[in-house]
Amino acid sequence: MEQNVIISRDLRTELHEAIEQVRPDRLFVLTDVNTREACWPVLNAFFTTSTAKPAPRLITIGATDEAKTLDSLAAVWTALGEGGATRHSMLINLGGGMVTDLGGFAASTFKRGIAYVNIPTTLLAMVDASVGGKTGINFRGLKNEIGVFNAAGTVILDTQFLCTLDSANIRSGYAEMLKHGLISDEAMLAELLAFDLDHPDLEHLKAMVAKSVAFKERIVTADPHEHGIRKALNLGHTVGHAFESLAMAEGRTVLHGYAVAWGLVCELYLSATRCGFPSVRLYQVAQFVRETYGIFPFDCKQYARLYELMTHDKKNVAGVINFTLLGAVGDIRINQQASKDDIFEMLDYYREN
Ligand code: GLY
Repeated sequence: MEQNVIISRDLRTELHEAIEQVRPDRLFVLTDVNTREACWPVLNAFFTTSTAKPAPRLITIGATDEAKTLDSLAAVWTALGEGGATRHSMLINLGGGMVTDLGGFAASTFKRGIAYVNIPTTLLAMVDASVGGKTGINFRGLKNEIGVFNAAGTVILDTQFLCTLDSANIRSGYAEMLKHGLISDEAMLAELLAFDLDHPDLEHLKAMVAKSVAFKERIVTADPHEHGIRKALNLGHTVGHAFESLAMAEGRTVLHGYAVAWGLVCELYLSATRCGFPSVRLYQVAQFVRETYGIFPFDCKQYARLYELMTHDKKNVAGVINFTLLGAVGDIRINQQASKDDIFEMLDYYREN
């Protein structure tokens, strides 16, 4: 997978180079209603003062995961078409994971694919969504049900945008960093568990972001299309996506990373019971997650629905739910099956702890 991931030192120069590499005939920038206010002025200043040509057209869609729909996608295709985009045009996605996923999919499918650049503006998009080429939209109540693998040519991570985030969005992205720590090594996990999220030291956070992204890059380079080791990056997501889909269906809003954090606790419990993951680490992570993310409330009448949602997970084979689990921190066990009884017991554990 060819993808140039840059930890930004000078956004103007890096963006200029990313555009120069492609020399598009037309340029488009996709934002959502929030990043249009908070982040577009930074890019606009670049475009109005630089000699970079052509001048971009701005496309704006609704914010949050609720807008990751076929309708928003169609609106982006329409704006590209009405703006005269050709196969030699370029789309710059400026936003969180919703914008980079949906914009990446719009770019990958418009006229069978145009060049695109990701400039992630949330912690979640910096450490996960914008890197590695997963693009897509939600469909029929299921997360990321429709999409393709197609990496952005360049991803520019500029941590200045972290200052635009509230504490819930910092916590949301942090859950993916916690996941990287769990599948990487004890030292990375210990650093993450010790970090003070109530009073975040941004310089320290930036250094941890660089480590986290470098770790993800190594995995996606080894297995870009998720036939093997990339499944490790799904730790916490089989259950997390089910929590998220249930919440969406019930009109409760949960941020993706919160659902992943709750999903990590569930899947570490399965890891402990099935693969010998040390219970001391399970308790430590469960306590950190409870203190940082609270709990996801549900009752036993919802187990069947959660189980049904897990049966749609993209890792499944022939309807059997396929988890990524851990034998220890950094000891990855992909393609682990669990029965319906195991899953119900895991949900009991989550509610009782
Ligand atoms: N978000 C997990 C992956 O990129 O594979």
